[in-house]
Amino acid sequence: MSDFERAAQAVREDRLWQRHMDMAKLGGTPRGGVNRQALSAEDAAARNLLMSWAAARGFSVFTDVIGNLFVRREGSDAGAKPILSGSHMDSQPTGGRFDGMYGVLAAFEALEALEDAGVRTKRPVEAVAWTNEEGSRFQPGAMGSAVFAGHNALDAMLAVKDWKGVVLRDALAETLAAAPAPRRGDTPGFALDGYVEAHIEQGPRLEDARTTIGVVTGIQGSRRFMVEILGDEAHAGTTPRAARKDAFVAAVAIAGAMQDATRDADDTLRFTIGRVDVLPGSPNTVPGRVSFTIDMRHPSMEVLEAHETKLRAIVASKAAPCTATIERLTSVAPTVFDPGVIGLVRDAAQRQGFSNMDMPSGAGHDAMHIAALCPAGMVFVPCERGVSHNEIENATPSDLAAGTRVLVEALVRLANR
Ligand code: GLV
Ligand code: MN
Ligand code: MN
Repeated sequence: MSDFERAAQAVREDRLWQRHMDMAKLGGTPRGGVNRQALSAEDAAARNLLMSWAAARGFSVFTDVIGNLFVRREGSDAGAKPILSGSHMDSQPTGGRFDGMYGVLAAFEALEALEDAGVRTKRPVEAVAWTNEEGSRFQPGAMGSAVFAGHNALDAMLAVKDWKGVVLRDALAETLAAAPAPRRGDTPGFALDGYVEAHIEQGPRLEDARTTIGVVTGIQGSRRFMVEILGDEAHAGTTPRAARKDAFVAAVAIAGAMQDATRDADDTLRFTIGRVDVLPGSPNTVPGRVSFTIDMRHPSMEVLEAHETKLRAIVASKAAPCTATIERLTSVAPTVFDPGVIGLVRDAAQRQGFSNMDMPSGAGHDAMHIAALCPAGMVFVPCERGVSHNEIENATPSDLAAGTRVLVEALVRLANR
């Protein structure tokens, strides 16, 4: 039997599932989900748990300047560039147990399976937990991988503040003090030979098609914006409408026009206003300031560009008598994964007898940044009714294990090239 067959067979469904259940206790919510936001105490607890499992298996751990956490299993060629696999351990405020965590635990299970099967790869294989993929506390998301890949500047990211004004640099220092790991390097990033990320699909296509493995071909492009509207605070009981500059009224007009302008016939464009802050937030004061976020996605860069132009025109034309600005916080081009890695994932699924289909990803993943550095790809497994970014997010132990077996085969073949 070949190395990759033995390693794939050594994946243990029970162990993988139990690790998910252990992690789900860290930030666990009464509705069965998790609230483990980036660089929180719960994030630190997850880092410590992963590091304790790594220590028990004799794997080394290290962290980098943005807090990405790596677990390394050496290869026979110590100087060779590693093959990397992983995802994120942070969650949405009302997140599920599998988004991100599955990719980290599948990668860790891969290291354990290699160990159990006694497979010595040529290149080192490393598991990674990227810092702040969700971007719900600190924007932008996929931050750890973006800094690693040079897509975002480290200093700018360290200066980012959360919604309460906490500076990321401080939250990172606190997290690393609570979950200490040796630091490797003073600058972001290091050379990689390949990257494969496992993730739940977060949509309904695999389940609808009764298919176990999604062979991910790419990720749609995305842009995030912040809209700020300035009016005047005034007394809610005395100020006539004509005399008001109500920032919320302007926000409603702008948001409504944006919703209309981003509706496309085939429902491909994704447009979401996910956070609105109304200030001063008092029932009897006319709002003087409103800010809201926009998350917009599409597989075509040109379509994103055209819609950004529309959004800017709406902000300019619909704010009166208030004033408004729109700032683009992030732009990530559509990702096309490496044909070689896509082929390895598809072959592994085929050879192991798992039903599979090629599919693009609607959600963003750290792989979109790492794909700029080395051959990269992803493996999807189904999640119940496609529900994600929700506490009821669910997946089956056998699908999680199937995706991990496919991942292991792809990793071993990359690591022995
Ligand atoms: C990741 O969670 C995303 O927003 O796509
Ligand atoms: Mn995710
Ligand atoms: Mn997510």
